[in-house]
Amino acid sequence: MKQLVIAIDGYSSCGKSTTAKAVAHLLHYAYVDTGAMYRGVTLYLLEHGIACDDLPAVEQALKTLSVSFRRNRQTGRNELFLDGVNREDDIRQMRISNSVSEVSVIPQVRHALVAQQQRMGRKRGVVMDGRDIGTTVFPDAEVKIFMTADMELRARRRQMELADKGEHVPLAEIIENLRKRDHIDSNRAESPLRRAADAVLLDTTHITISEQVDFVLDQVSAALFAAGRA
Ligand code: DC
Repeated sequence: MKQLVIAIDGYSSCGKSTTAKAVAHLLHYAYVDTGAMYRGVTLYLLEHGIACDDLPAVEQALKTLSVSFRRNRQTGRNELFLDGVNREDDIRQMRISNSVSEVSVIPQVRHALVAQQQRMGRKRGVVMDGRDIGTTVFPDAEVKIFMTADMELRARRRQMELADKGEHVPLAEIIENLRKRDHIDSNRAESPLRRAADAVLLDTTHITISEQVDFVLDQVSAALFAAGRA
């Protein structure tokens, strides 16, 4: 059967990665969480005291830093490794969420990560979630979904994820962070967050995760049918 690229873009905490992971699992596709890669670069720059405007140092870091995923055999999850060290938990902290949008606007960072993401998906058979997958990384993706949801619901989801990891953050602080990131992500010059003209909108405010997964699988069936007739 034809192997597709499934691009799932949209705002933070709309359920993109939960849906993308489940779809990848069901189709036996690879799953790439591109937000984790931007978070990884952010963690590295913070830990090495490299400021976002110190472009020579940022470029040097991008040359030497290795960003990769490895599958955790116990949980079945893909986890983020920086220079061979598992940093999955560290990249989810609030301090990273507070800085990641500033790092994601740097063109050199985007060029390096987009090139790596294109290599990861070159054999197709991949579900990738992020902000610019359907517009910049794989404009030829056969399935493009753009996810959105009510702000308070997004913030509550994020709050629960952080609490599961032992970080208790007030809802107002999370809402402020999400608003700021939405603004920066949507207004940056280089591959801003926007719905591709051919992306299907999915509002997850009032639907369950299994309904989200079914929605994407329906789009996959339609794309496979269209490919079969081409
Ligand atoms: O999906 P996430 O919330 O973990 O992503 C963290 C940040 O990374 C998000 O605020 C913007 C940035 N990002 C991006 O610029 N492009 C992507 N393809 C994925 C994430």
